[in-house]
Amino acid sequence: MRRIPVILDGDPGHDDAIAWVLANASPMLDIKAVTSVCGNQTMEKTTYNALRICTLIGLNVPVAKGRVKPLLKEPMVAPNVHGQSGLDGPKLPEPAFEVSDMDAVTLMAKIIEESDEPITLVPTGPLTNIAALFLAHPELKSKIEHIYIMGGGIHHGNWAPAAEFNIQVDPEAADIVFRGGVPITMAGLDVTEKAQIYPEEFDIIRNLGNPVAKTVAEWFDFFFQYHKSLKGYRGAAVHDAVAIVAMTNPEIFETKDLYVEVETCGDYCPGATIGDVKHVTGKEPNVHVLWNLDRDAFAKILINACASYGEVSK
Ligand code: BDR
Ligand code: CA
Repeated sequence: MRRIPVILDGDPGHDDAIAWVLANASPMLDIKAVTSVCGNQTMEKTTYNALRICTLIGLNVPVAKGRVKPLLKEPMVAPNVHGQSGLDGPKLPEPAFEVSDMDAVTLMAKIIEESDEPITLVPTGPLTNIAALFLAHPELKSKIEHIYIMGGGIHHGNWAPAAEFNIQVDPEAADIVFRGGVPITMAGLDVTEKAQIYPEEFDIIRNLGNPVAKTVAEWFDFFFQYHKSLKGYRGAAVHDAVAIVAMTNPEIFETKDLYVEVETCGDYCPGATIGDVKHVTGKEPNVHVLWNLDRDAFAKILINACASYGEVSK
């Protein structure tokens, strides 16, 4: 089986962490590097979290620090969702290795340039690093196979009525990436809010008994506190994990190809992802938008991934 070479770029973050647990468990993926971005917390905190997650799950790849700020805006963090550390809840191991000497853009560019096959990017935070890569190395875009993005929402936002957090933090970066010409799959709120894991499933994961599964269950315990405070959630919406499952299990999704633009200014909706659902622009679709998923199948994939950490020493 051909393994897909991927770079994971995120702002961990509970759901970023769970996404990386899934990615590391998949025999289909060949993870080349992990890069951090500021989003859920500051760059220092998300980088420290990235190192601790990789240590926990035995993912021995370079981890590089991204840009400390969005392209134009000041950082905006989410302690109400992820805590002061960005990854509150269970105690994690201290990093077993150092952060790379290279920054995220330099490391991504090196990997893409030196690779014999195109690389897939999976950003699950603001798109700052990916946009910076496009700006610094436009010649490398043709060597990026696909970008699986957690971000945006065609119907609504979560951080503002029309804007989802990752896009709202750095709308200019998102605009550059959405216009970039590289194939995009968008795991936006339209589908990720349906990707809820229920409390009884936290316990199934906990009872698997291996250290990674126990930590995932405790991440869910913490993350669910936020969702419980909102209306309409029976479980924790594990947004970022959807971007990984879109790659490994596309059969569980319903999708639409749409022309999508990012609003970068305006009073009410900077950070909105506007999808041409009624085809009024006549423009060719630039985004493969995930619209719906088989929730039970998604939960099963996640539980099996957690179980795999007890079966093989990773
Ligand atoms: C996104 O925002 C962050 O808080 C999560 O990690 C996820 O990437 C959901 O809007
Ligand atoms: Ca995230």
